Amino acid sequence: MSDCPRDAAIRVLMMPRDTNYHGTIFGGVILSHIDQAGAVAAIRAGCSQVTTVAMDKVEFHQPVKVGELVSFYTEVVKVGNTSITIKVSVEATQRDNGENVAVTSAMVTFVNIDNEGKKIPVPRN
Ligand SMILES: CC(C)(COP(=O)(O)OP(=O)(O)OC[C@H]1O[C@@H](n2cnc3c(N)ncnc32)[C@H](O)[C@@H]1OP(=O)(O)O)[C@@H](O)C(=O)NCCC(=O)NCCS
Repeated sequence: MSDCPRDAAIRVLMMPRDTNYHGTIFGGVILSHIDQAGAVAAIRAGCSQVTTVAMDKVEFHQPVKVGELVSFYTEVVKVGNTSITIKVSVEATQRDNGENVAVTSAMVTFVNIDNEGKKIPVPRN
């Protein structure tokens, strides 16, 4: 384990309720957390509240198992007028050897919205 772990937007411990019928974690559970991690990053970047407008192709490279800690790392890749695009990289810590394996990544675009759901500019720092 590294002395200086990276800061994940969210980390989630996978539970039996998250499995599909053949015992590994359901892909939709990971997609939901990708969406949430991206929203956390957008809000950290100054958005007030966001709605998801697009998520690009997502490929799963490794299965995720019950009891694994899954970390969702984020990076702001583009700030538009009302939109912000976040890259979310997903890693699972294997229970047997503590190694981190890359599971998937996704580009997620959010639109900054007001309380009425109308798009508003993303604040520039
Ligand atoms: C998101 C939403 C508010 C956008 O409203 P809109 O009037 O269609 O907005 P626009 O077409 O002007 O696009 C707004 C921004 O999103 C970007 N955008 C729109 N479609 C996009 C797409 N498919 N991929 C990437 N960016 C996209 C635009 O480029 C624009 O960015 P900019 O202002 O930084 O230049 C509206 O489409 C909406 O409410 N969609 C449903 C969102 C939702 O409910 N998500 C959860 C699904 S359960």
